[in-house]
Amino acid sequence: MKIIVTGAAGFIGSNFTFYMLENHPDAEIIAVDSLTYAGNLATLELIMEHPNFRFIRADITDRDAIRKIFREEEPDTVVNFAAESHVDRSIEDPGIFLRTNIIGTQVLMDASRETGVARFHQVGTDEVYGDLPLDRPDLFFTEDMPLTASSPYSASKASADLLVMAYHRTYGLPVTISRCSNNYGPYQFPEKLIPLMIANALEDKPLPVYGTGENVRDWLYVEDHCRAIDLVLQKGREGEVYNIGGHNERSNLSIVRTILQILGKPESLITYVSDRKGHDLRYAIDPEKISRELGWEPETMFDEGIRKTIEWYLEHRSWWENILSGDYMNYYQKMYGEIHQEL
Ligand code: NAD
Ligand code: DAU
Repeated sequence: MKIIVTGAAGFIGSNFTFYMLENHPDAEIIAVDSLTYAGNLATLELIMEHPNFRFIRADITDRDAIRKIFREEEPDTVVNFAAESHVDRSIEDPGIFLRTNIIGTQVLMDASRETGVARFHQVGTDEVYGDLPLDRPDLFFTEDMPLTASSPYSASKASADLLVMAYHRTYGLPVTISRCSNNYGPYQFPEKLIPLMIANALEDKPLPVYGTGENVRDWLYVEDHCRAIDLVLQKGREGEVYNIGGHNERSNLSIVRTILQILGKPESLITYVSDRKGHDLRYAIDPEKISRELGWEPETMFDEGIRKTIEWYLEHRSWWENILSGDYMNYYQKMYGEIHQEL
């Protein structure tokens, strides 16, 4: 199996790369990442010399560069994690979200068609279903629900999903899509709720909770997401969408309180700030299809996962402190210079 993994220097793409190298010794991974602010080569440091791993810096919207990589590497599988992923940034500046998340997906699918890949997998999000009311705990996102979107980010991801299904129907591209709920775990950029709150709590800084803190997200440990994608690649049916989630709904406030409690920090650090514009109320995945068809179940329960995550951030302080200080940018400039010479 030769897999192009885009966005491999980001949170889930890097965890997926580690997972595949560990669980499929025969898999060759070609990591393609443009190293935006969210991409961090330090994350991939331990596998840079791995014989089955190669890193290529390229932008998925750069048609010539992507075509060249596909022609040279001849992958049989593509897993597209590369995206602008932060909702708040999409509210400030939507343009880059449309370019990367929609046009980038198109460029990758065109290259996949030209070189005849056996599977193009699009890593999607549950945000494409819009949101659910807080007072209807009986409602869940299912794969057949219409797509709708609250933020420019979710609109761009929904557009990409539509394009993926159109390429399947029109050109017969062998695609699958997975739509996962909120992930947490090692190597998540400290702009997202859980790592931001851990970092701020450790530094005794205020923990900014949007609005009332009652909004609900459905949290999944990142390794469970990676295992689900691996299963979809192996056993998923072409042209199908698989929702991924572990029935683990929590309000933002309860997440923040749990972090403070584990770290032994006072709740007085909680600071209520203005609400996010268009803030989705509740996400909740129905994972029945992936459970029934592929036998997937989450393995890491939240109490264990959040403790492991907090421990990881405690043990890897330099990883996130370098991000907060901006030093990781210098690091990857230096590292990339070295890698570039090898290419
Ligand atoms: P991330 O922001 O941590 O990482 C994104 C990676 O993509 C970075 O390494 C970045 O450098 C790279 N990238 C961005 N633009 C690029 C471009 N034009 N060309 C090449 N590389 C580019 O994101 P994440 O949280 O790891 O999310 C990965 C994927 O999973 C995204 O598609 C996201 O929509 C989806 N997803 C995320 C979650 C979550 O909770 N984080 C949940 C469901 C789905
Ligand atoms: O559901 C999947 C999605 O989950 C992914 O598609 C996105 O890429 C990923 O970023 C995530 O989106 P969210 O907007 O749900 O995640 P975020 O961590 O930004 O926020 C989680 C919740 O916490 C949300 O209700 C907003 C709130 N929040 C967030 C931040 C950063 C706060 O209250 N304060 C904060 O400082």
